Amino acid sequence: MNPIIDTIIVAIWLMLPAYIPNPSAAFFGGKTPIDRGIYWGKGRLLGDGKTYEGLVKGFACGFLVGIIQHLFLCGYLNLNLNLNLPSFGVFPLFFVTLFCLSAGAMLGDLLGSFIKRRVGLQRGAPFPLLDQLDFVAGAWLLLFLFARAWFIESFSLDVILAVIIITPLLHLLTNYVGFKMGRKQVPW
Ligand code: CTP
Ligand code: MG
Repeated sequence: MNPIIDTIIVAIWLMLPAYIPNPSAAFFGGKTPIDRGIYWGKGRLLGDGKTYEGLVKGFACGFLVGIIQHLFLCGYLNLNLNLNLPSFGVFPLFFVTLFCLSAGAMLGDLLGSFIKRRVGLQRGAPFPLLDQLDFVAGAWLLLFLFARAWFIESFSLDVILAVIIITPLLHLLTNYVGFKMGRKQVPW
């Protein structure tokens, strides 16, 4: 296959447990703000868009999708696809890598909102690139801290580049779909 397409498939495969949490949080939503309505300076600490329910459900969905991917790699799901996809590690490492990917995505999203509130942006206001890449940064940060060997081995430079280029596009696309479905208040 085309090496560029190969790299893109590997990038999406590896990042899927980090891609799922945000749209899942938006889809299921929540009502208990993590910051409990607290203000910090002029703005809210995080804002009403960051809820406990969204955090837990988003993490759970990402982790679950990662487990399904792992089962697929182990051959438990016989889909007869001839793809050469990378592993999330052997037992028990894959629990750590999947945790870092999905919890890191939610953490990065929280940090992104924290930064947006500090520069005076209201909930839902766009912050180009931060909105699209905060969760990638969060996932990579946790991987770098807690699963460094797997991270370095799995994310080659071309995969990292592919993630940085395709994530904003995928993010805009899913957010537009979420907006049309009425699950997101703004299309970004
Ligand atoms: N969401 C949630 N809990 C989270 C993350 C997201 O409930 N921890 C839900 C909220 O309903 C949120 C939606 O997912 O509105 C979309 O998330 P996001 O785009 O990150 O939030 P915004 O509303 O755009 O707020 P912000 O400006 O803080 O990014
Ligand atoms: Mg946002």
